[in-house]
Amino acid sequence: MDGAAELVFCVNGRKVIEKNVDPETMLLPYLRKKLQLTGTKYGCGGGGCGACTVMISRYNPITKRIRHYPANACLLPICSLHGAAVTTVEGVGSTKARIHPVQERIAKCHGTQCGFCTPGMVMSIYTLLRNHPEPTLDQLTDALGGNLCRCTGYRPIIDACKTFCKVSRHERIIDPKLFSEEEFLPLDPTQELIFPPELMIMAEKQPQRTRVFVGDRMTWISPVTLKELLEAKVKYPQAPIVMGNTSVGINHTALFTNDFILGLTLGAGLSLAQVKEILKTQTYHALLKHLGTLAGCQIRNMASLGGHIVSRHLDSDLNPLLAVGNCTLNLLSKEGERQIPLNEQFLTKCPSADLKPGEILVSVNIPYSRKWEFVSAFRQAQRQQNALAIVNSGMRVFFGEGGGIIRELSIAYGGVGPTTICAKNSCQKLIGRPWNEEMLDAACRLILDEVSLPGWAPGGKVEFKRTLLISFFFKFYLKVSQILKTMDPVRYPGLADKYESALEDLHSRNHWGTSKYQDVDPKQLPQDPIGRPIMHLSGIKHTTGEAIYCDDMPVLDGELFLAFVTSSRAHAEIVSIDLSEALSLPGVVDIVTEEDLRGVNSFGLFGEPEKLLETQEVSCVGQLVCAVVADSEVQAKRAAKRVKIVYQDLEPVILTIEEAIRHHSFFQGERKLEYGNVDEAFKVVDQILEGEIHMGGQEHFYMETQSMLAVPKGEDQEMDVYVSSQFPKYIQDIVAATLKVPANKIMCHVKRVGGAFGGKVTKTGVYLSCFFFCFRHGCPVRCILERGEDMLITGGRHPYLGKYKAGFMNDGRILALDVEHYCNGGSTLDESLFVIEIGLLKVDNAYKFPNLRFRGWACRTNLPSNTALRGFGFPQSGLITENCITEVAAKCGLSPEKVRMMNMYKEIDQTPYKQEIDATNLIQCWKECMATSSYSLRKVAVEKFNSENYWKKKGLAMVPLKFPVGVLSTAAAQAAALVHIYLDGSVLVTHGGIEMGQGVHTKMIQVASRELRMPMSNVHLRGTSTETVPNANVSGGSLVADLNGLAVKDACQTLLKRLEPIISKNPKGTWKDWVRIAAFDESISLSATGYFRGYESHMNWETGEGHPFEYFVFGAACSEVEIDCLTGAHKNIRTDIVMDIGHSINPALDVGQIEGAFIQGMGLYTIEELKYSPQGVLYTRGPDQYKIPAVSDVPTELHVSFLPPSQNSNTLYSSKGLGEPGVFLGCSVFFAIHDAVRAARQERGLLGPLKLDSPLTPEKIRMACEDKFTKMIPRDEPGSYVPWNIPV
Ligand SMILES: Cc1cc2nc3c(=O)[nH]c(=O)nc-3n(C[C@H](O)[C@H](O)[C@H](O)COP(=O)(O)OP(=O)(O)OC[C@H]3O[C@@H](n4cnc5c(N)ncnc54)[C@H](O)[C@@H]3O)c2cc1C
Ligand code: FES
Ligand code: FES
Repeated sequence: MDGAAELVFCVNGRKVIEKNVDPETMLLPYLRKKLQLTGTKYGCGGGGCGACTVMISRYNPITKRIRHYPANACLLPICSLHGAAVTTVEGVGSTKARIHPVQERIAKCHGTQCGFCTPGMVMSIYTLLRNHPEPTLDQLTDALGGNLCRCTGYRPIIDACKTFCKVSRHERIIDPKLFSEEEFLPLDPTQELIFPPELMIMAEKQPQRTRVFVGDRMTWISPVTLKELLEAKVKYPQAPIVMGNTSVGINHTALFTNDFILGLTLGAGLSLAQVKEILKTQTYHALLKHLGTLAGCQIRNMASLGGHIVSRHLDSDLNPLLAVGNCTLNLLSKEGERQIPLNEQFLTKCPSADLKPGEILVSVNIPYSRKWEFVSAFRQAQRQQNALAIVNSGMRVFFGEGGGIIRELSIAYGGVGPTTICAKNSCQKLIGRPWNEEMLDAACRLILDEVSLPGWAPGGKVEFKRTLLISFFFKFYLKVSQILKTMDPVRYPGLADKYESALEDLHSRNHWGTSKYQDVDPKQLPQDPIGRPIMHLSGIKHTTGEAIYCDDMPVLDGELFLAFVTSSRAHAEIVSIDLSEALSLPGVVDIVTEEDLRGVNSFGLFGEPEKLLETQEVSCVGQLVCAVVADSEVQAKRAAKRVKIVYQDLEPVILTIEEAIRHHSFFQGERKLEYGNVDEAFKVVDQILEGEIHMGGQEHFYMETQSMLAVPKGEDQEMDVYVSSQFPKYIQDIVAATLKVPANKIMCHVKRVGGAFGGKVTKTGVYLSCFFFCFRHGCPVRCILERGEDMLITGGRHPYLGKYKAGFMNDGRILALDVEHYCNGGSTLDESLFVIEIGLLKVDNAYKFPNLRFRGWACRTNLPSNTALRGFGFPQSGLITENCITEVAAKCGLSPEKVRMMNMYKEIDQTPYKQEIDATNLIQCWKECMATSSYSLRKVAVEKFNSENYWKKKGLAMVPLKFPVGVLSTAAAQAAALVHIYLDGSVLVTHGGIEMGQGVHTKMIQVASRELRMPMSNVHLRGTSTETVPNANVSGGSLVADLNGLAVKDACQTLLKRLEPIISKNPKGTWKDWVRIAAFDESISLSATGYFRGYESHMNWETGEGHPFEYFVFGAACSEVEIDCLTGAHKNIRTDIVMDIGHSINPALDVGQIEGAFIQGMGLYTIEELKYSPQGVLYTRGPDQYKIPAVSDVPTELHVSFLPPSQNSNTLYSSKGLGEPGVFLGCSVFFAIHDAVRAARQERGLLGPLKLDSPLTPEKIRMACEDKFTKMIPRDEPGSYVPWNIPV
């Protein structure tokens, strides 16, 4: 093999030639660091988020066709790109040249917020349009399935992309428009980058030669003929064949092969997307069905059939089907061809049935199905799309001519063992039996016996998995029975209509939505932008990849990288730390330990400081132990893995809230709020109910992980810090304190943040060792957390346990409520007590409880410390209250909505802390939501549906919202701004707020534009810095635009006041005239600070009285869902949201905040599930295990509308803060599912109390819809085994 170690490919039309390339180099770091193409983002590094999507184009010299497909740059070894053309977001369009219609439309349709996911979205849609210039809605949903967005809630992105689709007007409805389609650039496919002719010539003419790339740890061989591949296989029998590289990872030697592994049947080298295309013309609907949901579009295009089969993942979707379909594998080696069956022995890697070391898989033979032979596929995952199955299955039955007697039966399952499991013995025993109810019963028992899962089985959800095994078989039974009926109705009477509902799958695909917002006053000046749907000012830059985030900053001379070493034990003494091996690695500069930070090893805001590095006693898995500094990211991370720590476990290990209660492990004492006389009220009520609900935590999952760059300035101990933080002042303070220098030496700059949601307030403190190192050694230090590290270290939303006792009358009036809240705070205090306090103050939600007692405790446990997350205690507290109301309604035999309405605040009233509340708009929102959602009509329709369908149920629920806005103290709400006018009349605005996607900078420019009466284009905003606005408060709590806007307004008014005499002298003049000629010459200062001292707020916990909040945001949401009682799947059919938002400053941004928060809340309450081992290890450390909502989870219909403007005199132009309130509205989906589950249970005669915890996952839905199958499964005695995971 003669290697010509030269790698040639193109990036955005430019040729790249790499000699001596390291085979371990992936395309993502190559693009970002080597080519400085930072538009392609790192979001997860594992193919799960789509932030790194690029388009790969390949020319096939035989077919003369070019294939364009989306791919995850994070999984693509650059060695695999020889001859390929890579297009990144920069190659699609830019503001410097010409923006592409995809970029323009996503931006102008308000499809970007933080913008971090946007380049990936652009690339997915761009690639779709390259292949299908007028795609269908299905193709669109498919194309976006592999891209996650944490901010927008997807609706505006779908709207933007829909403008390319051939759809009816109804499907495109956006009414009234937040954007104008007429303005859009047309899509002109002739303008696209062509496939580089050079590469085409290379493919046609250049003799193909095997390429070999030798790295330090890995050799890459790209053979060009099958013969060479086989020879290489003999030489390196253990080396994997890298196809899509979606499951190989790094290995010692790799062989690369591509399109020439093509067989007469299905070539093993075909990508899964190609297999999907081919199968369209055949009868293999079962395979097609799985290929529609398997992974995202990118992975389906990269991953190969051969790689999928040979890797034999335990949750492979295709192997169970191929196994039951009697498929054979065509193998080739130097010795010749061979066929082996794809059967259980192969799947369990039995040596006699497996590939031999020198063999490769060339093709797969999938036999056609015969008459009287039926094949079906089933799967259930945590999320509809782009999620590995919890259990999947392939099933096949063959009856032969006539008789309905089983001649052949094959059943295989994935997700229930180390690899695909075949229920061979069960099938054998059922041969010869007729296809009837007795057979079904026997089959279920046999399957449960054969495919037995121990209580401790990896992956958990054991009882759910057992239930799915037989629920799937039941579905198969019904499906086959129904087909038999159509084939021979006389002999096979088939199913009652009521049961047919078991057969259809639930999919929400074609979305549409409307937004109804306030019109601006017709008297408002046309150039005044307040109240208008102005696009996010960085929108276009988000879509072109030109928006710069922290890690997009170029590598500086002498820059070092810092990586953390974290504890692997929940509670242990560190006996020893051996750094020697790590220090001996090339490129490692130093390792920072607790000893280095002696005297300055702590940080924290809330009274109880956190230790930065811990080398004595660790109190959670993920605690920082030490930090390795090296000359590259790769070396720092490699070295961090070589640090050896010996632990001695300590007792107790407290992980759950229940354990904390038992050990009395709390941060400080209880927090309490009392109103009326609860004990007396309990004596007079008709009924008393006691209940509890457990609510899991939530990961922030901001798309940009925690990122930081510290740069020493070289003199006077100055340092610049660039950080992705919501709170630069905090970073400045702790750095200055740690380094013992005054704050005026440390400047902290934030251009923008790629999503934060509360996770970048205190948690950015983890970087202290970077600053320390930077300071001590005088070199720039960068630290970017990997997704897994970020999820492990930084905590998230607090899990909650809510206990309640409600006293109520038979008509639903609640007279007394006694509630206890416990949150799982983790190992350090952080903001846990504050979260409990806010939760207590908001526990009444929209209800007037005349007598109540609320108590709360923050539990200290051995988990990573939890922190702020959008909504800050209210999403948990509100759910507990709504759950109590739902139970009260059930007890009274009333609808929850009726009980909600009955107990709601009406007009002017008083909150439990004696703050006045005017609830007129609350009632208005409720009524409007009832009307716009046609609640009453749809309730009837839902009931009718439920009476006609046994296995599918619908649910409808509506929740009200009263979200108090404020931060409990006047000082915490102060804000400042600085506005300069330059002599050319242009204006620079700076303020203390952080742009993290919510569009605060856009709103601030709107404010300056109104106040200074100048066009927005004349005003600029560069970012946030402690250098321009000192001592700024944290950006959070829905108040950033409110507070900073008042400061900007103040500064602008000061300037205008100074300039008014000049303007009035020359009212027709321009800003240039006024400023240059008049003001400057007259020595008038053109720079002003603006200040807002904060809302008057206070809270006295002793008396339980105060005025902690400035105002209330009101709203209501009505959601409808459909559930599959056999699998636990649910579909979000429709959501209507009505909000009272005062006067909207920017309806496009405000709708975006409401929808984005709603979808985040929906995720919180339904699918986002953190899993911890019984030893306190977080399993869910990436998008592959932790599922945030994807595009397919958006309700098929989503309508958002605002009440007419209302006055709110103290706030900025009577606007209201909207960042957080919408999260809680996500629980309307929770209660709609609750409603559907209750309907299923009632039909099955289960009328007792229904306890459903959050998140209401497929597992909980299925297990609550009890039936003969849930009764049939074996149950494990609690305590008889150690479960894989525990609820915390
Ligand atoms: C984000 C993500 C989501 C996913 N979601 C799903 C999902 O929902 N459902 C599902 O079923 N799977 C899913 N997968 C798994 C995916 O289907 C497999 O990783 C993929 O099919 C493997 O194909 P590949 O070409 O990338 O194989 P590679 O990673 O390139 O290779 C895998 C193994 O196969 C061997 N191999 C490859 N080709 C041959 C050949 N021709 N002959 C012999 N040996 C060969 C290699 O030596 C290697 O050991 C997901 C993967 C990712 C990364
Ligand atoms: S970074 Fe590549 S898919 Fe997430
Ligand atoms: S805009 Fe999509 S993640 Fe922020």
